[in-house]
Amino acid sequence: METKMKKYYKSVFDNEQELLKAFIDIHLDGKDIELDPMYFKGNFYKGIKEPKYKFDISPIVLGVKKADARRLPLENESITSMILDPPFMFGIHGKTKEYYSSSTHGILQDFEALKELYQSIIREAYQVLKTKGILIFKCQDYTDNKTTMVHCFVWQWAVELGFYAKDLAILYLPKGKVSNPNLKQRHLRKVHSYFWVFEK
Ligand SMILES: C[S@@+](CC[C@H](N)C(=O)[O-])C[C@H]1O[C@@H](n2cnc3c(N)ncnc32)[C@H](O)[C@@H]1O
Repeated sequence: METKMKKYYKSVFDNEQELLKAFIDIHLDGKDIELDPMYFKGNFYKGIKEPKYKFDISPIVLGVKKADARRLPLENESITSMILDPPFMFGIHGKTKEYYSSSTHGILQDFEALKELYQSIIREAYQVLKTKGILIFKCQDYTDNKTTMVHCFVWQWAVELGFYAKDLAILYLPKGKVSNPNLKQRHLRKVHSYFWVFEK
């Protein structure tokens, strides 16, 4: 008699679409992500279905409405699942803009600006999500002069605001960022990002 092998997902992915499909399967009961308030170009939706609600503070794609993820035009407790992918670079100085592809995603002024944005969007996510609703939060650690473990702060702020940290996946994308070859390397080059799954 033939026994069917059960498929298990592992926590590290090298393909964003596969990661999101695994989350949809495990954490969203196979249902699509309902809301993306930081849509940008919609790169998440190359292999999964587009969300019902799409917003961005400066929309560049047709069908995406203008809204601030800190104050969404949605009823409280109306959303089942959502994804947040905020800008993660901060600290504008000297050559920052030359070394990173900064113009597309925006650089935040400093850590305080990052903290204000992240706490506000997590708070708003908590407002609009139903009980047991799922927030997927993409983030990455950031090294400038020093390293900020952004994913740890995201965990802390989400848990403080009432979320349960249900799962965490790592996306490994070794595509190199531009760096200054004249500088001595003092930190590991970050080639991975984090996808938190928070449950309300
Ligand atoms: C890292 S990009 C998102 C990339 C997107 N996930 C994709 O795959 O194409 C961040 C986006 O957040 C938007 N954004 C920044 N602050 C925002 C805010 N307060 N409310 C809504 N969108 C915001 C930016 O305009 C940018 O499009």
